[in-house]
Amino acid sequence: MKKILVTGGTGFIGSHTVVELHNAGYEPILIDNFSNSERSVLQGIKNITNKDFSFYEADCNDPNTFQSIFREHKIEGVIHFAAYKAVGESVKVPLKYYNNNINSLINLLESMLKFEVNNLVFSSSCTVYGQPDSLPVTEDAPIKKAESPYGNTKQICEEIIVDTCAANASLHAISLRYFNPIGAHPSAEIGELPLGIPGNLVPFITQTAAGIREKLTVFGNDYHTPDGSCIRDYIHVVDLAKAHVKAFELLDKKTAGFYDFFNIGTGKGSTVLEVVKGFEKVTGKNLNYWVGPRRPGDVEKVYAAVDKSSKELDWKTELDLETALIDAWRWEQRLQQK
Ligand code: WQD
Repeated sequence: MKKILVTGGTGFIGSHTVVELHNAGYEPILIDNFSNSERSVLQGIKNITNKDFSFYEADCNDPNTFQSIFREHKIEGVIHFAAYKAVGESVKVPLKYYNNNINSLINLLESMLKFEVNNLVFSSSCTVYGQPDSLPVTEDAPIKKAESPYGNTKQICEEIIVDTCAANASLHAISLRYFNPIGAHPSAEIGELPLGIPGNLVPFITQTAAGIREKLTVFGNDYHTPDGSCIRDYIHVVDLAKAHVKAFELLDKKTAGFYDFFNIGTGKGSTVLEVVKGFEKVTGKNLNYWVGPRRPGDVEKVYAAVDKSSKELDWKTELDLETALIDAWRWEQRLQQK
């Protein structure tokens, strides 16, 4: 069984990807330092898969982390999720983000080259596009000046991978540029675990519906969109996880020095108010919200062109926004029972 190392394996997207790797017949090996997740996620993964995957509580910035794992396991490839991802925080403490997000990748690449681990899937983000000039945004769209140090670390990491693949014919890599991951596993055994006050829309919605937050603020309704609120491409986290399996299958077929990148979204844009109304519809709950001022740094509208990922990754989303909202709500209710 092919072993795939998953850094950030107990994180929101990492944990769902571990499940889909298992479902596809791979053996995931997990690393996490719990800086943005909890040990209980391992039990959630086991409740779904009935497996105790090898897990290493370790820091991806520690050079020994990867060397010891690559000595112990024959690793076919790595999915690198481990990174800090809070846009707002990255503005306040940029060096924390540059240090962690970039050094962990460099550390990983050096170890992969040393141990001849040749396949990498990198967790990137649509923030590299900023506010695209045209929509839906294709992979040919220009990379724009990052709106935050977080987004900049994603751009810099992609460039580091491009150059490393160009210099090392043995290394094959794919960057997946996520749009807005939402939802949870339908079993409600794993899901998003926002630490503190959620910055992202859907966990704030579910916490408001659960009575943890008093009300949701919709950040602006004076944008040039059908109802004035921002547009995003909300993708079910299980669909997103499956894209990583497809990326490995593509890498398996590739020859030396291969690098490519793909937009991973639904291809459909939804406004914030559509998400709110959708949540109320699928849950039957009235959400307490008000429309406040715009949030600095928000782009007005962004959603993915999905032609390249559907053609070349042989992947497209299967789950819709309402399913993601139902799954997110089911997970929130499960969290409240814990
Ligand atoms: C979505 C929309 C907000 C909260 C960020 C990162 C991206 C990725 C996903 C890491 C926006 C509005 C939100 C709220 C609101 N993260 N909103 N009230 O900003 O599109 O993307 O998270 O990889 O890289 O940039 O996601 O969920 O924060 O916001 O009105 O309480 O919801 O203004 O229009 P975003 P988000």
